Amino acid sequence: MKEKKKFYLTTPIYYPSAKLHIGNTYTTVAADALARFKRLSGYDVMFLTGTDEHGQKIQRKAEEKGVTPKEYVDEIVAGIKDLWKMMNISYDKFIRTTDDYHIESVQKIVEKLYNQGDIYKSSYEGWYCTPCESFWTETQLVDGKCPDCGRPVEKAKEEAYFFKVSKYADRLIEYIEEHPDFIQPESRKNEMLNNFLRPGLEDLCISRTSFDWGIKAPFDEKHVIYVWIDALLNYITALGYGTENDQLFQKYWPCNVHLIGKDILRFHTIYWPITLMALGLELPKQVFGHGWLLVDGGKMSKSKGNVVDPVVLINEFGADAVRYYLLHEIPFGSDGLFNNEIFIKKVNSDLANDLGNLVSRTVAMVEKYFEGIIQSPTAKEAIDEELISLALEVPVKVEDNINKLKIPEALDNIWELIRRSNKYIDETAPWILAKDEAKKERLGTVLYNLIESLRITATLLSAFLPETSEKIYKQLNVELTTWDSIFSFDGTRCGTKVQKGDVIFPRIDVAAKLEQLDKLKEATIKEAQKTAAKPIKEEITIEDFEKIDLRVVKVLECEPVKKSDKLLKLKVDLAGETRQVVSGIAKYYKPEDLVGKYVVLVANLKPVKLRGELSEGMILAASTEDDSKLFTVTIPGELPTGSEVR
Ligand code: MSP
Repeated sequence: MKEKKKFYLTTPIYYPSAKLHIGNTYTTVAADALARFKRLSGYDVMFLTGTDEHGQKIQRKAEEKGVTPKEYVDEIVAGIKDLWKMMNISYDKFIRTTDDYHIESVQKIVEKLYNQGDIYKSSYEGWYCTPCESFWTETQLVDGKCPDCGRPVEKAKEEAYFFKVSKYADRLIEYIEEHPDFIQPESRKNEMLNNFLRPGLEDLCISRTSFDWGIKAPFDEKHVIYVWIDALLNYITALGYGTENDQLFQKYWPCNVHLIGKDILRFHTIYWPITLMALGLELPKQVFGHGWLLVDGGKMSKSKGNVVDPVVLINEFGADAVRYYLLHEIPFGSDGLFNNEIFIKKVNSDLANDLGNLVSRTVAMVEKYFEGIIQSPTAKEAIDEELISLALEVPVKVEDNINKLKIPEALDNIWELIRRSNKYIDETAPWILAKDEAKKERLGTVLYNLIESLRITATLLSAFLPETSEKIYKQLNVELTTWDSIFSFDGTRCGTKVQKGDVIFPRIDVAAKLEQLDKLKEATIKEAQKTAAKPIKEEITIEDFEKIDLRVVKVLECEPVKKSDKLLKLKVDLAGETRQVVSGIAKYYKPEDLVGKYVVLVANLKPVKLRGELSEGMILAASTEDDSKLFTVTIPGELPTGSEVR
């Protein structure tokens, strides 16, 4: 037997830091369609996904919850696996970066790089944000502050190991230029070359000592390996690279496609290929960076309350409705929108009307006119030839589009056949043929053609909407479902009995469902708020609390701090004394909005200088965790300034 061609496909490995939203599922659903299609069309596929479980953020979240990092990730990873099951994701392997074999291989790999001189010890000099435990370079700072939390940073020096990526930069530029398919879509390639590679690549700091939830560097146990290096290596450790058991690696590497979101393209097209070059391995054939799934208000975020929960949608509409929307409505490679109303309308028009009706009409007619028995076709008419030639062209078109990763276009091809089949019913009018006994044979042929067209449709759909495909097969009682069988129009066995089943996509009442979804969304937001809220800190005594001197002050003057778009400088009155306070609230208030307001000051806080300005205390404010919304604490009336807040 001829050996099958190999196809190795990966998704990113997910951070188990929160529940996945519909945007996160996009990469994996697209990868699944690709994997299923490749299997259908005769490839030996390895489809890898998994979770990226190390790093400071996870360690912190676990600490906040009072559990170990491993306990923390175990629970979330189980949820991710359940979600993939609900969405019918057909991965061949699920890797966790906490798996022993991964940890061992990563250690061997970095040791090799260290021994060959590609990893060296130096010190990291930069700006340090203590609350975030993160180093930043001068250019990464925003307004001279931590780009993550907006708080002041200090100059710091920490011993660290570096990966000599600069040594490989020219080779990588040459490789990218000579392999036009390596970074796709094309526009993203220029972004990588012009914004990162051509201006010169700095060596990458690949170890940390400020936390320990990670893989220990074998050459220096005080250090843990940078989470991105740990994570990227999953693509080869999952195949057993570097172990005695490396058959999968020998078989499947190099990878055909790393499918990822555009936000993580830099790691996959710069640091990852350089790591492979340093290991003397072939580079992946393609890295495809798809766009973002946006919701009405822009990016999905918990604090905006616009996170779309895939579980809610799947429970309401089924996995295939969700898969159809993601695969068809988002132009692959660009950003796309998720909107409940468009989603429901698409389910009604494309799935319930076009596809669902075609199946139920066809099966119902075979039942009504032939007691469910599929007849043998006889002489073909011109109109039959039209349907048949389209049905035979569609698999070729779909394959061509899939090879170019044009997933929505591939679904358009299938829908062309579905719509043509519906038109064929209208044109041949079987109900009129049925009235004339002399036309019974013709009626049998028309219905055979419809069934055969549906068999081809269902086979192609098995890659995109696997549950639906199965339902159609069942109703038509199809036996032949192979790729080869859809290149000839005679795969349905005459004499087979169809089995009417439930409607595959019931029509949805748009207004009623939207209202129901809105209610569910409110409940989801409440739930998210509950889980997003930080746990209450350790108990303190009243004496501890009394150490903090909170006072009512009145804002006398307010102006922006020069060269800063985050800071405002306020002059406040505290019992007749004027104090200057610098506050990071410029994004939320115009200076004039604050003048005259009574706010709360931490009056006994040690003064500091921010951007060269003295700050004698801190104004209290409440904000969302991601700082998208903030309000200062104000006194809703007049009180003598200097009054205590207790
Ligand atoms: N752990 C890294 C990947 C390491 S791979 C060696 C990571 N994880 S992630 O959980 O943050 O993201 C997983 C995938 O979801 C990425 O492909 C990311 O681009 C994608 N998306 C996250 N939000 C998205 C949307 N709103 N829309 C589309 N894709 C999005 O990054």
